Amino acid sequence: MPISRPTEVRHPLANASIAAELAAGLCAPAAAIAPKFLYDALGSKLFEAICELPEYYPTRTEAAIVACHGAEIARAVGPGATLIDLGAGNCAKAATLFPLLHPAQYVAIDISYDFLHEAIDRLQQRFPHIEMTALGLDFSAGLDLPGVVRPEKRLFFYPGSSIGNFTPVEARAFLRRARDQCDTDGGLLIGIDLVKDSATLDAAYDDELGVTAAFNLNILRHVNRLIGADFQVAQWRHRGFYNADEGRVEMHLEARAALTVSWPGGARSFRAGERIHTENSYKYRQAAALGLLEQAGFAAAKVWTDPDSWFALIYARALPLA
Ligand code: AVI
Repeated sequence: MPISRPTEVRHPLANASIAAELAAGLCAPAAAIAPKFLYDALGSKLFEAICELPEYYPTRTEAAIVACHGAEIARAVGPGATLIDLGAGNCAKAATLFPLLHPAQYVAIDISYDFLHEAIDRLQQRFPHIEMTALGLDFSAGLDLPGVVRPEKRLFFYPGSSIGNFTPVEARAFLRRARDQCDTDGGLLIGIDLVKDSATLDAAYDDELGVTAAFNLNILRHVNRLIGADFQVAQWRHRGFYNADEGRVEMHLEARAALTVSWPGGARSFRAGERIHTENSYKYRQAAALGLLEQAGFAAAKVWTDPDSWFALIYARALPLA
């Protein structure tokens, strides 16, 4: 059988708006860099390494849920879906679903296009009979899908609890946009990380080997490339911890000493100990997760969890549009 070629669509990030977004975040009283900037080519590889760490339980817990309940997941979803993988990365999670779901089309979306492009080329060779499309898209900014994406039976696949990287208000708006892209036969298969003891969460986001620290610090090199800033990685320290009051893990970069960062058109001084907020990772109670889905226009049809109830995989059907 001839090897199919995946369709590839790249939406280059608009440089001017990125520069404005980054400068505004760096100059805000509480400095911040959006977590999407964690994922340049090296950041995507470091995230892959995080998923292998003993402390980082979400990936293996979610994979164990899929391995344990695969037949039930297949029954709930049914064959022939247009499987739309949000934040596909190396596409490994979706690949485990192919033998279960037999999708009609696989659409992989990721902001880190070069990384995605290599992954989908490899995947297309393993599964030549599945129509594949790679989209380089910042879907946090909008979810307008191009015409190559089949409208029938769209199943949004959002694994790994990436929904936790949005605030709950942003998460509802984002899921609502996904719902608006579904016909009546559409749905969502989503992984959501559940609230647990803070020691487990602290370790998962501040591992002994320092891989998460490298992942977080690498954002500074990415920002240097994007806007010509002069961040020096050695002047910053990784912080990752559970904030129980907010129900989220937070990642920050903390200045080791007083310093100034400059870029063409701007500069920001930091006091020793001052932080740049780089990521939130919200943890949900199951009832709150189901409430979020319902508010976004999805009805949870099935919930699978691991024996410790650390992680939930939820299949939800798109409700008819009001
Ligand atoms: C991609 N996302 C779900 C990860 C998380 O757990 O929030 C990103 C991550 N940040 C630090 N470790 C992993």
